[in-house]
Amino acid sequence: MAGIKIIGLGKSQGDKVVTNDDLAQIVDTSDQWVRAKTGIKSRYFAENKTNEDMAFEAASQAIENAGIDRKEIAMCIVCTFTPDDYTPAVACNVAGRLGLLEQIQAYDINGACSGFIYGCNLANGLLACQQEKYALVIGSEKISPLMDMTDRGTCVLFGDGAGAAVLKYDPAADFVFYAGCAANKEILYCSRQDKAIKMAGQEVYRFAVSKVPECIKAVLDEAGYTDKEIDHFVCHQANERIIDNAARRISKDTDKFFKNLYDYGNTSAASIPIALCEMEEQGLLHAGSKLVCTGFGAGLTYGCMLVTFCPGSGASG
Ligand code: UT7
Repeated sequence: MAGIKIIGLGKSQGDKVVTNDDLAQIVDTSDQWVRAKTGIKSRYFAENKTNEDMAFEAASQAIENAGIDRKEIAMCIVCTFTPDDYTPAVACNVAGRLGLLEQIQAYDINGACSGFIYGCNLANGLLACQQEKYALVIGSEKISPLMDMTDRGTCVLFGDGAGAAVLKYDPAADFVFYAGCAANKEILYCSRQDKAIKMAGQEVYRFAVSKVPECIKAVLDEAGYTDKEIDHFVCHQANERIIDNAARRISKDTDKFFKNLYDYGNTSAASIPIALCEMEEQGLLHAGSKLVCTGFGAGLTYGCMLVTFCPGSGASG
């Protein structure tokens, strides 16, 4: 159970707000359909920002909120399936712009929409092995260039953004991780050849409503907690109906399931850290908040973690 806690959060988003009505000018859709089927009202597209720009902005805010000396950060992990270039990794460029030490490890990982959960678990293991204190984990996606704007089944769903967390290793901290990969490359993918996201929406939906509650239950069981002992459940922000379905199955207190997909759409690996950052900004998080975060997406991957929020606890040890 020993592991990391979150001590600082940050976020960024694309520079252009795109509403459902804006998309209805391009494809045969409507604000009413998109809201009813997903909950999404608008999303951001990064027209004048790169993935790296958004990752840098989110990370800068997270480091400031953590109140640590950035030279103590031992690793920079960017979770993304939409890097600006094949190489170098977004993480290397961000580490350089942030002025992190040269003697760190910096790389991208691709766990699709489960990426941030996988990144946190990776950081947890590495910090423990290497006896280091701090990791920077960023979920950052620029999905808009990979959207087929003639496919109304997908182009209304996604948005661009980044969320970041500074993690501190603490042997006394609660951390539980559960994950899986139901290997499948047919129902959700984006090939190098097509450069456009393809999705069988109903099949992904069925996968999600089965896996999200399964993951949460597994983590609660392993941690020995009931839902009542968890302050917030933070699910991948893809579809309001998927989150509501999981909420009904897990807890009587469905308000514990935070949602902000209304304004962001699905930002893949960025959705959970953006949600966490918004929760903090809205005063929903306090020192010691117990969080269960769950992602699912292409792969098909799924992952869930129990983690504690301890804001700005860098300096205090
Ligand atoms: O991070 C990746 C995770 N991905 C997800 O979580 C996606 C999970 N899946 C979903 O959220 C839902 O499947 C969608 C929101 C994508 C679609 O909802 P649905 O209830 O599964 O709709 P559908 O695909 O079965 O389509 C129903 C109808 C079809 O029309 P017909 O054949 O019944 O005449 C579609 O052509 O809705 C039509 N449709 C649309 N209509 C207006 C599909 N997209 C749109 C649209 N606007 N944007």
